[in-house]
Amino acid sequence: MSQSYISHWKSPSNIALVKYWGKKENQIPANPSISFTLDNALTETSVEAKFQENQNGILIDFLFEGIKNNSFKTKIESFLSIVQNEYKWLNSYHLTINSSNTFPHSSGIASSASAFSALALCLVNLDEKINNTIYPNFYEKASYWARLGSGSACRSVYGGINLWGKTNSYPNSSDEFSIEISKDVHPIYTDFNDHILIIEKGKKSVSSTQGHALLKQHPFAEIRYQTAKENTEKLISILKTDNLDDFIQLVESEALMLHSLMMTSATPFILMKPNTLSVIEKIWEYRREKNVPILFTLDAGANVHLLSPKSQQMQVDNFVKTELIQYCQDNQYLHNSVGKGPEKQV
Ligand code: PMV
Repeated sequence: MSQSYISHWKSPSNIALVKYWGKKENQIPANPSISFTLDNALTETSVEAKFQENQNGILIDFLFEGIKNNSFKTKIESFLSIVQNEYKWLNSYHLTINSSNTFPHSSGIASSASAFSALALCLVNLDEKINNTIYPNFYEKASYWARLGSGSACRSVYGGINLWGKTNSYPNSSDEFSIEISKDVHPIYTDFNDHILIIEKGKKSVSSTQGHALLKQHPFAEIRYQTAKENTEKLISILKTDNLDDFIQLVESEALMLHSLMMTSATPFILMKPNTLSVIEKIWEYRREKNVPILFTLDAGANVHLLSPKSQQMQVDNFVKTELIQYCQDNQYLHNSVGKGPEKQV
């Protein structure tokens, strides 16, 4: 009898408010981080596992949007070689992995968080099926494995607001997986929009892996880790209230600090583009003039994430369409909100 199992998940990307930048061995973060889970930037992945009598090692077929993709396949194989230390069945099951994104691949949106969280959810679910068991800590396990694929991916297995990294200011926080902290957050924050303004499509000149590595020798590394720890503690308490002034100040400062670390590395690099700065200035001007609580954050790239409470949606949509879109490549932006997390597909 040939045994075959399938698991299929849709999982979102996330945007960090306090940034993870710098790591130790095994993707253990140098400092804790906090993020919003998104609702519209998703990876959908299905994994079919078929038992093969004489297989001896990892064997996969990988299709991205229906087409073989060898560079993704290699990344997945090296990830699976870590997972198989615990999931021994990976050595005797042939995996057929099909994956696709809901956002354009070349939009400059980091897809590793949604991709590795979706894959990790499928693997833990297959492990349950193969061993005929149910894990009460299913999501924690998925977050643990997602972290080993791509650090920030561990913050994508739950909805709402996530904390990854040990901090004394939150019980059960861990360096090994993220936890959802939405229940300790004022509802204004689970009702936020994120307009992702696509300033530049395509591959970044310096990958986040290289960026993390450059921090090791960085003259500001220790002060950064300490500041990020303090910012995490501060943000946990800011998120309990609807005091958006403190939220805005902290989140924007985190984004600019991330990019200033890049600019001051031994091998300096700049991922912002002139239009990134133009958009930031526009956002500041708009906030000053209209007194509307909008703010920006940045990923490791040129795109700007414009964050705003949903109560301001009409006004902010209008601001984007009339004043910001001209700075976006091909007038492109993606509308996201804080999302509810991954969904199992049947
Ligand atoms: O998960 P990685 O290794 O791609 O690193 C992500 C780094 C940032 O996106 C810049 C910050 C973060 O916390 O997501």
